Amino acid sequence: MSASGVCLPLVVILLALARVSHALTSDQASFIAHRQLLSLKENDDLPADFEYEIDVTVTFANRRLKRAYVALQTWKKAIYSDPFNTTGNWDGPNVCEYTGVFCAPALDDPSLDVVAGVDLNHADIAGYLPTELGLLTDVALFHVNSNRFCGVIPKSFSKLILMHEFDISNNRFVGGFPKVVLTWPAVKFIDIRYNDFEGKLPPELFLKELDAIFLNNNRFTSTIPDTVGKSTASVVVFAYNKFTGCIPRTIGNMTNLNEIIFLNNHLGGCFPDELGLLENMTIFDASHNSFFGGITTTLTGLKNVEVLEIANNKLTGLVSESICSLPKLINFTFSDNYFNAEDKSCVPSQTEGKFFGDSGNCLPNRPGQKSGMECYPVVSRQVDCSKSCGGDSCLEPPSANTNTSTSSSQGYTGRQPT
Ligand SMILES: *[C@@H]1O[C@H](CO)[C@@H](O)[C@H](O)[C@H]1NC(C)=O
Ligand SMILES: *[C@@H]1O[C@H](CO)[C@@H](O)[C@H](O)[C@H]1NC(C)=O
Ligand SMILES: *[C@@H]1O[C@H](CO)[C@@H](O)[C@H](O)[C@H]1NC(C)=O
Ligand SMILES: *[C@@H]1O[C@H](CO)[C@@H](O)[C@H](O)[C@H]1NC(C)=O
Ligand SMILES: *[C@@H]1O[C@H](CO)[C@@H](O)[C@H](O)[C@H]1NC(C)=O
Repeated sequence: MSASGVCLPLVVILLALARVSHALTSDQASFIAHRQLLSLKENDDLPADFEYEIDVTVTFANRRLKRAYVALQTWKKAIYSDPFNTTGNWDGPNVCEYTGVFCAPALDDPSLDVVAGVDLNHADIAGYLPTELGLLTDVALFHVNSNRFCGVIPKSFSKLILMHEFDISNNRFVGGFPKVVLTWPAVKFIDIRYNDFEGKLPPELFLKELDAIFLNNNRFTSTIPDTVGKSTASVVVFAYNKFTGCIPRTIGNMTNLNEIIFLNNHLGGCFPDELGLLENMTIFDASHNSFFGGITTTLTGLKNVEVLEIANNKLTGLVSESICSLPKLINFTFSDNYFNAEDKSCVPSQTEGKFFGDSGNCLPNRPGQKSGMECYPVVSRQVDCSKSCGGDSCLEPPSANTNTSTSSSQGYTGRQPT
């Protein structure tokens, strides 16, 4: 694994910190730096004898709480800024009293109290997740959102087999998709948004029985795997990454889907017809991508959609009454595309309580439209959406079909190029 971005300036930061008040002692600093570098170099799984590395003389109600103590004390040493003193009371054997640490009877032995959850949300803590956290084998809930944790998710997290909710959003984690989440048999909720994860999404992610998947605001670059159709999730958010390719046709098989957000990626192609099968979907956002082709055959099927956002694409043709009069539709923004006709029911502020946006298109007799020169080449282009994704490339309609002299037969009645 490359160490770049993985807290490597840590040594430098720690040396600087050691000179200011309320900072770590230089012993602590060198301990942390040493451990972090070790865990970067080596397989970061947990050696079997790790829990004995720290001499624990205090007594514990049970062995699992002792293991939790080792995990939490090591974590505390891996924290180099804790502005709200959240971990200030992380001392002594009563780990169940630590701020953000929650105990409950063990699932497999209700006579034992064990650490069942960690919730350090919004603590603004800087540090990393040490390998020893793999000792928290009873944890079902791990929430550390809105902190400054960096580095990678240690492989030892695979030992947290009861994990149900994993929220590490809004931190500084790096590296590939944290595949360790795929090893948890009971995980339902994965939130890794607002980090610096990069590379491909593993297709296996969508084979887990998840309720919600938040991937937004990272640096993922892959296509969206076809396995997405097998996902049991009701909410999937891909927004603000660099996903490429088309929306897989398998999307029509997402029977629990309620909300899917593709906003701001590098996706393209035509919307697949199967999208129209998602009659239970309430929020669909595909804005700020490069989708092209028409929308009537696909979006008309969204009988329960309330929010429909398709702005900033290269969509063409008619915005039809069958879409604008969908029974639950409240917000429908189709601005900044190349639509050249809209039904009168689609005109903004024609219908009470509905927010429609049609600006920046090629609509005749509507304010704030694109210039004829901008519209003409796109509106006159023929797109064959019956082909896979509407062409060989998902990003641009097939240029071979471009024939500007056929523009009038495409129904284009907007301003002509000057
Ligand atoms: C942090 O909290 C601990 C325990 O509550 C307290 O003893 C310590 O003085 C606090 N430190 C700061 C800097 O407030
Ligand atoms: C949807 O699922 C059915 C049944 O598993 C399968 O036959 C069909 O091919 C799937 N459709 C797509 C587009 O993947
Ligand atoms: C919509 O939801 C209902 C009730 O949960 C379910 O029976 C139905 O299969 C869903 N429809 C689709 C197309 O997923
Ligand atoms: C709907 O659009 C209005 C106006 O643009 C906006 O204020 C509101 O937040 C939107 N609602 C939803 C649910 O997106
Ligand atoms: C474009 O279309 C016109 C009229 O349909 C036809 O005469 C012409 O040959 C076409 N040009 C190309 C390059 O396909």
